[in-house]
Amino acid sequence: MHRVRLTSVNDFAEWRNAARGLLIKGVQPDEVIWEDPSAPIDLFAEPEDRPPDVAARAVGVVPPLFLELAEAAVCHREAVRFALLYRLLFRLQKDRELIGVRADPDVSRLYRLVGEVRRDSHKMKAFVRFREDETRFGAWFEPDHYVLERTAPFFVRRFASMQWAIFTPYRSAAWDGQKLLFGDGTRREDAPRGDAMEEMWRTYFASIFNPARLKVQMMKSEMPVKYWRNLPEAELIPALIRGAKEAEAAMIAKAATIPPARHMRADARKIVPEEAVEITSLADARAAVQGCTRCPLYQYATQAVFGDGPATAEVMFVGEQPGDQEDLAGRPFVGPAGQVFDRALEKVGIDRSRVYVTNSVKHFKFEPRGKKRIHQKPNAGEIQACRFWINLEREFVRPKLIVAMGATAVQSLTGKAASITSLRGKKLELPDGGHLLVTVHPSYLLRLPDREEAARELERFEADLRAVKAFIDRRGDEVRSGAGQAA
Ligand code: URA
Ligand code: SF4
Repeated sequence: MHRVRLTSVNDFAEWRNAARGLLIKGVQPDEVIWEDPSAPIDLFAEPEDRPPDVAARAVGVVPPLFLELAEAAVCHREAVRFALLYRLLFRLQKDRELIGVRADPDVSRLYRLVGEVRRDSHKMKAFVRFREDETRFGAWFEPDHYVLERTAPFFVRRFASMQWAIFTPYRSAAWDGQKLLFGDGTRREDAPRGDAMEEMWRTYFASIFNPARLKVQMMKSEMPVKYWRNLPEAELIPALIRGAKEAEAAMIAKAATIPPARHMRADARKIVPEEAVEITSLADARAAVQGCTRCPLYQYATQAVFGDGPATAEVMFVGEQPGDQEDLAGRPFVGPAGQVFDRALEKVGIDRSRVYVTNSVKHFKFEPRGKKRIHQKPNAGEIQACRFWINLEREFVRPKLIVAMGATAVQSLTGKAASITSLRGKKLELPDGGHLLVTVHPSYLLRLPDREEAARELERFEADLRAVKAFIDRRGDEVRSGAGQAA
Protein backbone atom coordinates (compact mmCIF):
# COMPACT_ATOMS: atom_id res chain seq x y z
CA MET A 1 0.00 0.00 0.00
CA HIS A 2 1.22 3.50 -0.79
CA ARG A 3 0.37 6.40 1.41
CA VAL A 4 0.60 9.86 -0.05
CA ARG A 5 0.10 12.66 2.40
CA LEU A 6 -0.24 15.93 0.55
CA THR A 7 0.84 19.14 2.24
CA SER A 8 -1.93 21.25 0.75
CA VAL A 9 -5.68 20.64 0.55
CA ASN A 10 -5.92 21.89 -3.00
CA ASP A 11 -2.54 22.18 -4.70
CA PHE A 12 -3.05 20.66 -8.11
CA ALA A 13 0.67 20.61 -8.99
CA GLU A 14 1.45 18.70 -5.82
CA TRP A 15 -1.15 16.05 -6.59
CA ARG A 16 -0.04 15.85 -10.22
CA ASN A 17 3.60 15.30 -9.27
CA ALA A 18 2.71 12.58 -6.83
CA ALA A 19 0.33 10.98 -9.32
CA ARG A 20 2.97 10.96 -12.05
CA GLY A 21 5.44 9.26 -9.75
CA LEU A 22 2.91 6.55 -8.96
CA LEU A 23 1.94 6.13 -12.57
CA ILE A 24 5.55 5.67 -13.63
CA LYS A 25 5.85 2.88 -11.10
CA GLY A 26 2.63 1.33 -12.38
CA VAL A 27 0.92 1.63 -9.01
CA GLN A 28 -2.73 0.57 -9.20
CA PRO A 29 -5.34 3.10 -8.00
CA ASP A 30 -6.53 0.81 -5.22
CA GLU A 31 -3.00 0.55 -3.86
CA VAL A 32 -2.86 4.22 -2.88
CA ILE A 33 -4.20 6.01 0.14
CA TRP A 34 -4.38 9.73 -0.47
CA GLU A 35 -4.45 12.07 2.49
CA ASP A 36 -4.74 15.81 2.66
CA PRO A 37 -3.52 17.89 5.61
CA SER A 38 -6.98 17.87 7.18
CA ALA A 39 -6.73 14.11 7.73
CA PRO A 40 -5.60 13.28 11.25
CA ILE A 41 -2.08 11.91 11.43
CA ASP A 42 -2.26 8.20 12.06
CA LEU A 43 0.71 7.25 14.21
CA PHE A 44 0.32 3.60 13.41
CA ALA A 45 0.03 4.00 9.69
CA GLU A 46 2.61 2.61 7.36
CA PRO A 47 5.34 5.10 6.56
CA GLU A 48 4.58 7.46 3.79
CA ASP A 49 5.72 6.27 0.44
CA ARG A 50 6.12 9.40 -1.51
CA PRO A 51 7.11 8.87 -5.09
CA PRO A 52 10.04 10.83 -6.47
CA ASP A 53 9.27 14.27 -7.79
CA VAL A 54 9.00 13.69 -11.47
CA ALA A 55 7.22 16.85 -12.47
CA ALA A 56 9.45 17.37 -15.45
CA ARG A 57 8.88 13.97 -16.99
CA ALA A 58 5.83 13.42 -19.05
CA VAL A 59 3.98 10.14 -18.73
CA GLY A 60 1.49 8.65 -21.08
CA VAL A 61 -1.24 10.66 -22.64
CA VAL A 62 -3.38 13.01 -20.67
CA PRO A 63 -6.13 14.87 -22.47
CA PRO A 64 -5.98 18.60 -21.69
CA LEU A 65 -9.66 18.47 -20.76
CA PHE A 66 -8.85 16.07 -17.94
CA LEU A 67 -6.17 18.41 -16.60
CA GLU A 68 -8.56 21.32 -16.68
CA LEU A 69 -11.26 19.37 -14.86
CA ALA A 70 -8.81 17.87 -12.37
CA GLU A 71 -7.47 21.30 -11.49
CA ALA A 72 -10.95 22.34 -10.42
CA ALA A 73 -11.81 19.02 -8.76
CA VAL A 74 -8.86 19.15 -6.32
CA CYS A 75 -10.56 22.19 -4.78
CA HIS A 76 -13.55 20.08 -3.77
CA ARG A 77 -13.94 19.24 -0.12
CA GLU A 78 -14.80 15.58 -0.70
CA ALA A 79 -12.05 13.39 0.73
CA VAL A 80 -12.07 10.99 -2.19
CA ARG A 81 -11.13 13.61 -4.78
CA PHE A 82 -7.45 12.70 -5.04
CA ALA A 83 -8.15 9.00 -5.31
CA LEU A 84 -10.82 9.61 -7.94
CA LEU A 85 -8.43 11.70 -10.01
CA TYR A 86 -5.69 9.12 -9.83
CA ARG A 87 -8.13 6.38 -10.82
CA LEU A 88 -9.18 8.43 -13.82
CA LEU A 89 -5.61 9.27 -14.76
CA PHE A 90 -4.77 5.59 -14.56
CA ARG A 91 -7.74 4.56 -16.66
CA LEU A 92 -7.06 7.30 -19.20
CA GLN A 93 -3.72 5.68 -20.01
CA LYS A 94 -5.61 2.81 -21.61
CA ASP A 95 -8.64 4.68 -22.83
CA ARG A 96 -8.03 8.25 -23.89
CA GLU A 97 -11.67 8.69 -24.90
CA LEU A 98 -12.85 7.91 -21.39
CA ILE A 99 -13.05 11.56 -20.42
CA GLY A 100 -15.89 12.00 -22.94
CA VAL A 101 -17.96 9.16 -21.49
CA ARG A 102 -20.25 11.08 -19.19
CA ALA A 103 -22.13 7.92 -18.21
CA ASP A 104 -19.00 6.42 -16.65
CA PRO A 105 -19.38 6.67 -12.83
CA ASP A 106 -15.87 8.09 -12.34
CA VAL A 107 -16.29 10.63 -15.11
CA SER A 108 -19.72 11.65 -13.93
CA ARG A 109 -18.43 12.07 -10.40
CA LEU A 110 -15.58 14.21 -11.70
CA TYR A 111 -18.04 16.46 -13.49
CA ARG A 112 -20.16 16.72 -10.37
CA LEU A 113 -17.15 17.80 -8.28
CA VAL A 114 -16.11 20.32 -10.92
CA GLY A 115 -19.63 21.73 -11.15
CA GLU A 116 -19.82 22.16 -7.39
CA VAL A 117 -16.43 23.85 -7.22
CA ARG A 118 -17.33 26.24 -10.04
CA ARG A 119 -20.65 27.11 -8.43
CA ASP A 120 -18.90 27.75 -5.16
CA SER A 121 -16.43 30.04 -6.88
CA HIS A 122 -19.29 31.98 -8.51
CA LYS A 123 -20.96 32.24 -5.14
CA MET A 124 -17.81 33.70 -3.68
CA LYS A 125 -17.60 36.30 -6.44
CA ALA A 126 -21.19 37.29 -5.80
CA PHE A 127 -21.26 37.29 -2.03
CA VAL A 128 -17.94 38.51 -0.73
CA ARG A 129 -18.59 41.85 0.96
CA PHE A 130 -15.67 44.01 1.92
CA ARG A 131 -15.70 46.17 4.97
CA GLU A 132 -13.81 49.36 4.60
CA ASP A 133 -11.27 50.56 7.09
CA GLU A 134 -9.75 53.82 5.89
CA THR A 135 -7.78 52.64 2.91
CA ARG A 136 -7.99 48.90 3.41
CA PHE A 137 -10.73 46.40 2.94
CA GLY A 138 -11.34 43.08 4.58
CA ALA A 139 -13.94 40.39 4.09
CA TRP A 140 -14.83 37.14 5.77
CA PHE A 141 -16.22 34.36 3.63
CA GLU A 142 -16.88 30.67 4.17
CA PRO A 143 -16.69 28.80 0.89
CA ASP A 144 -18.06 25.27 0.77
CA HIS A 145 -14.94 24.11 -1.03
CA TYR A 146 -11.29 25.18 -1.27
CA VAL A 147 -11.91 27.88 -3.84
CA LEU A 148 -10.13 30.92 -2.41
CA GLU A 149 -6.99 30.56 -4.54
CA ARG A 150 -8.84 30.09 -7.80
CA THR A 151 -11.24 32.93 -7.07
CA ALA A 152 -8.83 35.51 -5.63
CA PRO A 153 -7.52 36.61 -9.07
CA PHE A 154 -11.05 37.74 -9.88
CA PHE A 155 -10.91 40.16 -6.95
CA VAL A 156 -7.45 41.28 -8.01
CA ARG A 157 -8.81 42.22 -11.42
CA ARG A 158 -11.89 43.79 -9.98
CA PHE A 159 -10.32 45.70 -7.11
CA ALA A 160 -6.78 46.09 -8.34
CA SER A 161 -6.08 49.49 -6.90
CA MET A 162 -7.20 48.83 -3.39
CA GLN A 163 -5.59 46.87 -0.64
CA TRP A 164 -7.77 44.08 0.54
CA ALA A 165 -7.79 40.74 2.32
CA ILE A 166 -10.27 37.90 2.25
CA PHE A 167 -10.30 35.51 5.18
CA THR A 168 -11.72 32.03 5.02
CA PRO A 169 -11.54 29.21 7.55
CA TYR A 170 -8.84 27.39 5.61
CA ARG A 171 -6.77 30.18 4.07
CA SER A 172 -6.49 33.94 3.66
CA ALA A 173 -5.63 36.01 0.65
CA ALA A 174 -4.24 39.53 0.70
CA TRP A 175 -3.63 41.97 -2.12
CA ASP A 176 -1.36 44.90 -1.39
CA GLY A 177 -1.79 46.51 -4.78
CA GLN A 178 1.00 44.49 -6.37
CA LYS A 179 1.25 41.04 -4.93
CA LEU A 180 -1.34 38.44 -4.08
CA LEU A 181 -0.34 36.55 -0.96
CA PHE A 182 -1.89 33.52 0.65
CA GLY A 183 -1.69 32.81 4.37
CA ASP A 184 -3.32 30.67 7.02
CA GLY A 185 -7.03 30.45 7.54
CA THR A 186 -8.79 31.97 10.51
CA ARG A 187 -12.12 32.09 12.28
CA ARG A 188 -15.06 34.39 12.03
CA GLU A 189 -15.40 34.78 15.78
CA ASP A 190 -12.03 36.50 15.94
CA ALA A 191 -13.53 39.48 14.26
CA PRO A 192 -11.95 42.88 14.61
CA ARG A 193 -14.01 46.01 14.92
CA GLY A 194 -12.92 49.59 14.39
CA ASP A 195 -9.33 50.03 15.54
CA ALA A 196 -8.77 46.33 15.52
CA MET A 197 -8.94 46.46 11.77
CA GLU A 198 -6.00 48.83 11.64
CA GLU A 199 -4.14 46.67 14.12
CA MET A 200 -4.86 43.68 11.97
CA TRP A 201 -3.27 45.32 9.00
CA ARG A 202 -0.21 46.30 10.98
CA THR A 203 0.35 42.77 12.15
CA TYR A 204 -0.97 41.14 9.04
CA PHE A 205 2.11 40.45 7.05
CA ALA A 206 4.15 39.69 10.15
CA SER A 207 1.86 37.24 11.82
CA ILE A 208 -0.44 35.45 9.46
CA PHE A 209 1.91 34.63 6.68
CA ASN A 210 4.19 31.79 7.37
CA PRO A 211 7.03 32.47 4.94
CA ALA A 212 7.52 28.78 4.33
CA ARG A 213 4.02 28.55 2.93
CA LEU A 214 4.04 31.83 1.16
CA LYS A 215 3.16 31.96 -2.44
CA VAL A 216 3.63 35.14 -4.29
CA GLN A 217 1.99 36.01 -7.53
CA MET A 218 2.63 39.24 -9.32
CA MET A 219 -0.50 40.77 -10.65
CA LYS A 220 -1.00 43.82 -12.80
CA SER A 221 -3.27 46.57 -11.57
CA GLU A 222 -6.13 47.04 -13.96
CA MET A 223 -9.09 48.58 -12.25
CA PRO A 224 -9.19 52.33 -11.74
CA VAL A 225 -9.73 53.69 -8.27
CA LYS A 226 -13.18 55.08 -9.03
CA TYR A 227 -14.68 51.58 -9.12
CA TRP A 228 -13.68 50.47 -5.73
CA ARG A 229 -15.41 53.44 -4.20
CA ASN A 230 -18.64 51.70 -5.12
CA LEU A 231 -18.06 48.58 -3.11
CA PRO A 232 -21.12 46.90 -1.68
CA GLU A 233 -21.66 47.82 1.94
CA ALA A 234 -20.24 45.74 4.69
CA GLU A 235 -22.08 42.62 5.62
CA LEU A 236 -19.50 40.33 7.04
CA ILE A 237 -16.46 41.33 8.99
CA PRO A 238 -12.93 40.04 8.67
CA ALA A 239 -11.13 37.92 11.16
CA LEU A 240 -8.42 39.02 13.48
CA ILE A 241 -5.18 37.16 13.35
CA ARG A 242 -4.17 37.65 16.96
CA GLY A 243 -7.10 35.53 18.10
CA ALA A 244 -6.37 32.79 15.64
CA LYS A 245 -3.87 30.98 17.85
CA GLU A 246 -6.25 30.85 20.79
CA ALA A 247 -9.00 29.78 18.47
CA GLU A 248 -6.82 27.02 17.16
CA ALA A 249 -5.99 25.81 20.68
CA ALA A 250 -9.70 25.84 21.49
CA MET A 251 -10.40 23.86 18.38
CA ILE A 252 -7.80 21.26 19.28
CA ALA A 253 -9.25 20.95 22.78
CA LYS A 254 -12.70 20.54 21.30
CA ALA A 255 -11.56 17.94 18.83
CA ALA A 256 -10.79 15.62 21.71
CA THR A 257 -14.44 15.08 22.45
CA ILE A 258 -16.17 15.85 19.19
CA PRO A 259 -15.33 13.28 16.57
CA PRO A 260 -13.84 14.85 13.48
CA ALA A 261 -16.21 15.46 10.61
CA ARG A 262 -16.27 12.66 8.14
CA HIS A 263 -14.29 14.45 5.49
CA MET A 264 -11.57 15.07 8.07
CA ARG A 265 -11.16 11.44 9.00
CA ALA A 266 -8.70 8.96 7.61
CA ASP A 267 -11.36 6.28 7.21
CA ALA A 268 -13.39 8.57 4.96
CA ARG A 269 -11.25 7.27 2.13
CA LYS A 270 -12.43 3.75 2.67
CA ILE A 271 -16.06 4.70 2.21
CA VAL A 272 -17.41 3.42 -1.05
CA PRO A 273 -19.39 5.97 -3.04
CA GLU A 274 -23.06 5.15 -2.99
CA GLU A 275 -23.28 4.78 -6.75
CA ALA A 276 -20.62 2.07 -6.65
CA VAL A 277 -22.90 -0.30 -4.72
CA GLU A 278 -25.63 -2.18 -6.48
CA ILE A 279 -28.61 -2.32 -4.15
CA THR A 280 -30.62 -5.50 -4.34
CA SER A 281 -31.09 -6.26 -0.66
CA LEU A 282 -31.42 -4.62 2.72
CA ALA A 283 -27.77 -5.49 3.39
CA ASP A 284 -26.72 -3.72 0.17
CA ALA A 285 -28.68 -0.64 1.19
CA ARG A 286 -27.06 -0.71 4.60
CA ALA A 287 -23.62 -0.75 2.95
CA ALA A 288 -24.47 1.88 0.34
CA VAL A 289 -25.88 4.43 2.76
CA GLN A 290 -22.39 5.03 4.14
CA GLY A 291 -21.46 6.55 0.79
CA CYS A 292 -24.56 8.71 0.52
CA THR A 293 -24.05 12.37 -0.32
CA ARG A 294 -27.66 13.17 -1.23
CA CYS A 295 -27.79 15.98 1.28
CA PRO A 296 -25.06 17.87 3.14
CA LEU A 297 -25.52 16.03 6.44
CA TYR A 298 -23.05 13.26 5.60
CA GLN A 299 -20.17 15.71 5.91
CA TYR A 300 -20.27 16.22 9.65
CA ALA A 301 -21.68 13.05 11.14
CA THR A 302 -19.50 10.14 12.22
CA GLN A 303 -21.43 7.68 10.11
CA ALA A 304 -24.84 6.97 8.66
CA VAL A 305 -27.09 5.11 11.09
CA PHE A 306 -29.21 2.65 9.20
CA GLY A 307 -32.21 0.76 10.55
CA ASP A 308 -31.82 -2.18 12.84
CA GLY A 309 -33.83 -5.37 13.09
CA PRO A 310 -34.87 -8.41 11.08
CA ALA A 311 -35.61 -7.96 7.39
CA THR A 312 -38.70 -10.09 8.02
CA ALA A 313 -40.13 -7.84 10.74
CA GLU A 314 -43.83 -7.13 10.49
CA VAL A 315 -43.59 -3.87 12.38
CA MET A 316 -41.31 -0.95 11.62
CA PHE A 317 -40.73 1.94 14.03
CA VAL A 318 -39.56 5.18 12.51
CA GLY A 319 -37.97 8.02 14.50
CA GLU A 320 -36.41 11.28 13.39
CA GLN A 321 -32.64 11.03 13.07
CA PRO A 322 -29.76 9.57 15.08
CA GLY A 323 -28.69 11.58 18.11
CA ASP A 324 -25.23 12.07 19.55
CA GLN A 325 -24.93 8.55 20.94
CA GLU A 326 -26.51 6.86 17.94
CA ASP A 327 -24.04 8.70 15.72
CA LEU A 328 -21.15 7.23 17.67
CA ALA A 329 -22.62 3.74 18.12
CA GLY A 330 -23.97 3.38 14.59
CA ARG A 331 -27.30 2.04 15.89
CA PRO A 332 -30.67 3.77 16.18
CA PHE A 333 -32.30 4.57 19.52
CA VAL A 334 -29.51 3.72 21.93
CA GLY A 335 -29.29 7.11 23.70
CA PRO A 336 -31.71 8.75 26.17
CA ALA A 337 -34.69 8.63 23.77
CA GLY A 338 -33.80 5.01 23.06
CA GLN A 339 -34.02 4.20 26.74
CA VAL A 340 -37.50 5.69 27.00
CA PHE A 341 -38.44 3.70 23.93
CA ASP A 342 -36.93 0.45 25.25
CA ARG A 343 -38.63 0.75 28.63
CA ALA A 344 -42.01 1.41 27.02
CA LEU A 345 -41.59 -1.54 24.63
CA GLU A 346 -40.69 -3.79 27.50
CA LYS A 347 -43.61 -2.61 29.58
CA VAL A 348 -46.17 -3.45 26.90
CA GLY A 349 -44.42 -6.69 25.97
CA ILE A 350 -42.97 -5.92 22.54
CA ASP A 351 -39.69 -7.70 21.86
CA ARG A 352 -37.39 -5.10 20.27
CA SER A 353 -35.36 -7.77 18.51
CA ARG A 354 -38.48 -8.78 16.53
CA VAL A 355 -39.25 -5.32 15.17
CA TYR A 356 -37.38 -3.11 12.75
CA VAL A 357 -36.30 0.26 14.15
CA THR A 358 -35.08 3.07 11.95
CA ASN A 359 -34.96 6.82 11.43
CA SER A 360 -36.28 9.21 8.78
CA VAL A 361 -32.87 10.80 8.32
CA LYS A 362 -29.75 8.67 8.58
CA HIS A 363 -27.10 11.21 9.49
CA PHE A 364 -26.96 13.14 12.77
CA LYS A 365 -27.58 16.85 12.32
CA PHE A 366 -26.07 19.01 15.02
CA GLU A 367 -24.45 22.27 15.89
CA PRO A 368 -21.21 22.17 17.88
CA ARG A 369 -21.44 24.16 21.09
CA GLY A 370 -18.38 23.96 23.29
CA LYS A 371 -17.68 20.28 23.74
CA LYS A 372 -21.23 19.27 22.93
CA ARG A 373 -23.06 18.55 19.74
CA ILE A 374 -26.53 20.04 19.94
CA HIS A 375 -29.28 18.25 18.05
CA GLN A 376 -30.84 20.15 15.18
CA LYS A 377 -34.08 19.28 13.45
CA PRO A 378 -33.61 18.05 9.91
CA ASN A 379 -35.23 20.35 7.37
CA ALA A 380 -37.74 19.41 4.66
CA GLY A 381 -35.01 19.09 2.02
CA GLU A 382 -32.96 16.71 4.14
CA ILE A 383 -36.01 14.64 5.02
CA GLN A 384 -36.95 14.48 1.35
CA ALA A 385 -33.40 13.52 0.27
CA CYS A 386 -33.28 10.74 2.83
CA ARG A 387 -36.65 9.26 1.84
CA PHE A 388 -34.63 7.34 -0.73
CA TRP A 389 -33.25 5.19 2.08
CA ILE A 390 -36.37 4.71 4.13
CA ASN A 391 -38.24 3.82 0.97
CA LEU A 392 -35.66 1.11 0.31
CA GLU A 393 -36.06 -0.16 3.86
CA ARG A 394 -39.82 -0.27 3.41
CA GLU A 395 -39.42 -2.07 0.11
CA PHE A 396 -37.11 -4.74 1.48
CA VAL A 397 -38.76 -5.22 4.87
CA ARG A 398 -42.36 -4.76 3.70
CA PRO A 399 -43.75 -4.23 7.22
CA LYS A 400 -47.46 -4.70 7.75
CA LEU A 401 -47.49 -1.84 10.23
CA ILE A 402 -45.30 1.25 10.38
CA VAL A 403 -45.23 3.32 13.55
CA ALA A 404 -44.31 6.94 12.91
CA MET A 405 -42.87 8.48 16.04
CA GLY A 406 -43.08 12.24 15.71
CA ALA A 407 -43.68 14.79 12.97
CA THR A 408 -40.49 14.12 11.02
CA ALA A 409 -41.43 10.47 10.60
CA VAL A 410 -44.93 11.42 9.41
CA GLN A 411 -43.44 13.79 6.87
CA SER A 412 -40.91 11.22 5.72
CA LEU A 413 -43.44 8.40 5.41
CA THR A 414 -46.28 10.33 3.79
CA GLY A 415 -44.31 13.04 1.99
CA LYS A 416 -46.48 15.66 3.68
CA ALA A 417 -46.19 17.70 6.82
CA ALA A 418 -49.03 17.04 9.26
CA SER A 419 -49.67 17.54 12.95
CA ILE A 420 -49.36 14.57 15.25
CA THR A 421 -52.49 15.57 17.15
CA SER A 422 -54.68 15.30 14.06
CA LEU A 423 -53.37 11.85 13.12
CA ARG A 424 -52.65 10.22 16.42
CA GLY A 425 -54.50 7.04 17.25
CA LYS A 426 -55.97 6.61 13.76
CA LYS A 427 -55.02 3.62 11.71
CA LEU A 428 -54.05 5.00 8.33
CA GLU A 429 -53.66 3.12 5.08
CA LEU A 430 -50.43 3.55 3.17
CA PRO A 431 -50.40 3.42 -0.64
CA ASP A 432 -48.33 0.21 -0.55
CA GLY A 433 -51.04 -1.60 1.42
CA GLY A 434 -49.38 -1.33 4.82
CA HIS A 435 -50.78 0.49 7.79
CA LEU A 436 -49.49 3.57 9.55
CA LEU A 437 -49.90 4.40 13.18
CA VAL A 438 -48.85 7.80 14.42
CA THR A 439 -47.56 8.52 17.89
CA VAL A 440 -45.24 10.99 19.58
CA HIS A 441 -41.47 10.82 19.55
CA PRO A 442 -39.95 9.41 22.77
CA SER A 443 -37.73 12.47 23.16
CA TYR A 444 -40.88 14.60 23.38
CA LEU A 445 -41.59 12.75 26.62
CA LEU A 446 -38.14 13.69 27.87
CA ARG A 447 -38.68 17.35 27.20
CA LEU A 448 -41.91 17.82 29.15
CA PRO A 449 -41.05 19.91 32.20
CA ASP A 450 -44.16 19.12 34.20
CA ARG A 451 -43.93 15.75 35.95
CA GLU A 452 -47.62 15.01 35.92
CA GLU A 453 -47.95 15.87 32.29
CA ALA A 454 -44.89 13.75 31.50
CA ALA A 455 -46.42 10.79 33.31
CA ARG A 456 -49.70 11.27 31.47
CA GLU A 457 -48.00 11.53 28.10
CA LEU A 458 -45.90 8.47 28.79
CA GLU A 459 -49.09 6.53 29.49
CA ARG A 460 -50.57 7.69 26.20
CA PHE A 461 -47.40 6.62 24.41
CA GLU A 462 -47.61 3.21 26.07
CA ALA A 463 -51.27 2.97 25.09
CA ASP A 464 -50.25 3.54 21.46
CA LEU A 465 -47.64 0.82 21.81
CA ARG A 466 -50.28 -1.50 23.24
CA ALA A 467 -52.21 -1.08 20.02
CA VAL A 468 -49.05 -2.13 18.20
CA LYS A 469 -48.71 -5.13 20.50
CA ALA A 470 -52.33 -6.12 19.81
CA PHE A 471 -51.61 -5.89 16.09
CA ILE A 472 -48.53 -8.13 16.45
CA ASP A 473 -50.53 -10.70 18.44
CA ARG A 474 -53.37 -10.67 15.91
CA ARG A 475 -50.94 -11.14 13.05
CA GLY A 476 -49.33 -14.00 14.96
CA ASP A 477 -52.70 -15.67 15.30
CA GLU A 478 -53.48 -15.16 11.61
CA VAL A 479 -50.14 -16.58 10.54
CA ARG A 480 -50.49 -19.55 12.87
CA SER A 481 -54.04 -20.36 11.77
CA GLY A 482 -53.00 -19.85 8.12
CA ALA A 483 -50.15 -22.31 8.60
CA GLY A 484 -52.55 -24.69 10.34
CA GLN A 485 -54.89 -24.70 7.38
CA ALA A 486 -52.08 -25.32 4.96
CA ALA A 487 -50.78 -28.26 6.97
N1 URA B 1 -34.00 10.09 18.18
C1 URA B 1 -34.36 9.51 17.02
O1 URA B 1 -35.27 9.92 16.36
N2 URA B 1 -33.67 8.45 16.63
C2 URA B 1 -32.68 7.94 17.30
O2 URA B 1 -32.09 6.99 16.82
C3 URA B 1 -32.31 8.56 18.51
C4 URA B 1 -32.98 9.63 18.93
FE1 SF4 C 1 -27.84 10.73 2.55
FE2 SF4 C 1 -29.75 10.80 4.37
FE3 SF4 C 1 -27.24 11.14 5.08
FE4 SF4 C 1 -28.51 13.04 3.74
S1 SF4 C 1 -28.98 12.30 5.79
S2 SF4 C 1 -26.46 12.26 3.31
S3 SF4 C 1 -29.79 11.80 2.38
S4 SF4 C 1 -28.11 9.30 4.24
